[in-house]
Amino acid sequence: MSCQSNNATDPTFAIAEGAQEIDPKVVAQDLVKRFGPSGMDPRVQKLIPGFDAPFYQAGLAGYSDAAMRIIARRHGCPLCVTEALLDRTLLAGGKGFAKADLGELHDNVPGGVEDNPLVGQVMGSDPGEMAAGAVKMIEQGKRSHKAYRKMVDSGIDELRSDGSDTFAAIDVNLACPVKKISKKSRGGHWLSEPEGAIAILQAVREVLPDSIPLTVKMRRSFDDTEEMKKNFLYLFDAAYDLGCAWVTVHGRTVEQKYIGPSRWDPLKRLVDRNPDRLIFGSGDVWDVNQIFRMIGYTGLTGVSVARGCIGNPWIFRQARSLLAGRDPQAPTIAEQREVLEQHFDLALAVNAHTRDPELFTSKNMRKFGIKFAVHHPNALEVKKQFIYVKNLDEWREVLEKWYV
Ligand SMILES: Cc1cc2nc3c(=O)[nH]c(=O)nc-3n(C[C@H](O)[C@H](O)[C@H](O)COP(=O)(O)O)c2cc1C
Repeated sequence: MSCQSNNATDPTFAIAEGAQEIDPKVVAQDLVKRFGPSGMDPRVQKLIPGFDAPFYQAGLAGYSDAAMRIIARRHGCPLCVTEALLDRTLLAGGKGFAKADLGELHDNVPGGVEDNPLVGQVMGSDPGEMAAGAVKMIEQGKRSHKAYRKMVDSGIDELRSDGSDTFAAIDVNLACPVKKISKKSRGGHWLSEPEGAIAILQAVREVLPDSIPLTVKMRRSFDDTEEMKKNFLYLFDAAYDLGCAWVTVHGRTVEQKYIGPSRWDPLKRLVDRNPDRLIFGSGDVWDVNQIFRMIGYTGLTGVSVARGCIGNPWIFRQARSLLAGRDPQAPTIAEQREVLEQHFDLALAVNAHTRDPELFTSKNMRKFGIKFAVHHPNALEVKKQFIYVKNLDEWREVLEKWYV
């Protein structure tokens, strides 16, 4: 069970009247006129140097490990977020929760010099545990497991971190739609209990060094009732009041999970209401045009790319092209092959700790292969072949047969 449940819906356009008539080239060039060649608000670049384009790769449980992130970065992605890591997974050192919970620790450790800047995402139920988890994350566990655990009971002063350069920011997940566990809220369920969410944001902000921005991921509401819409706005305002740098809002409700289109109108209204705030958006960004249409329609600072970049790192290159005033190009077969080779190699390194890294990686890469196959002229055939790959040789056989 994870943030990814029920995500298998077909791509749809978001609900946003007239958005599909917006010319992405015009939006890209407007951003360049306003902010210079990066198209990114300079306030963001001041907070996270290197975050130099108005889009980033979202946290994607089960996908966005260091291998996927590095591939994205090699194609121009300026910032990546880890998968949501549960506070208790973090505090337990990743042991004992491998199957039951969200991201695993080994997928979410920074993947070396290439994996920068990186935002670590945390999710959980208890303010103290969330704060200790966030500190442990940015410190990359430099103290013992017990020391972090002890901090939870000793209070905020004990928890305060003295800084680290591993993560560029910490993001609190108030968006994941997975059901409550043992009646405890976490993720998107906090949108129905805003005071609890505020206690978490406050605790995490307090323990992070000033140099590390705190950001938040939210859904546009828990559901479509007036009460929940009010809760959302209350929590959204509180996040900025507490010193959060920005909020990324997914244009679906928690109740909606991943079913049906997202709505961009509520995001546009948020920007109209708070034109000076940094606000990012998420939902139905399936290709490069939707990146710029979403920004053009809503006025958001930038957008997160989620399902639209699985098997499609070229979306970032294409977005950079539009900012540079060039037409976006589809990947050639040779470029696809190169990425398929690199992604497998990187994944092998990320999975080196597993009992059988090659088998583990092969199984894990099948779902990527299926998505990468979409770019191939014989997509259906290629997809079928990726589904059965069991080792590196078989992966290479598919490449030899179809990617020459
Ligand atoms: C498989 C899957 C895993 C996800 N995992 C996370 C996660 O760990 N953290 C997070 O903030 N969002 C997560 N999300 C939500 C996405 O970041 C994004 O907000 C959502 O998919 C909407 O964007 P899209 O319609 O463009 O895909 C996940 C979504 C999917 C489909």
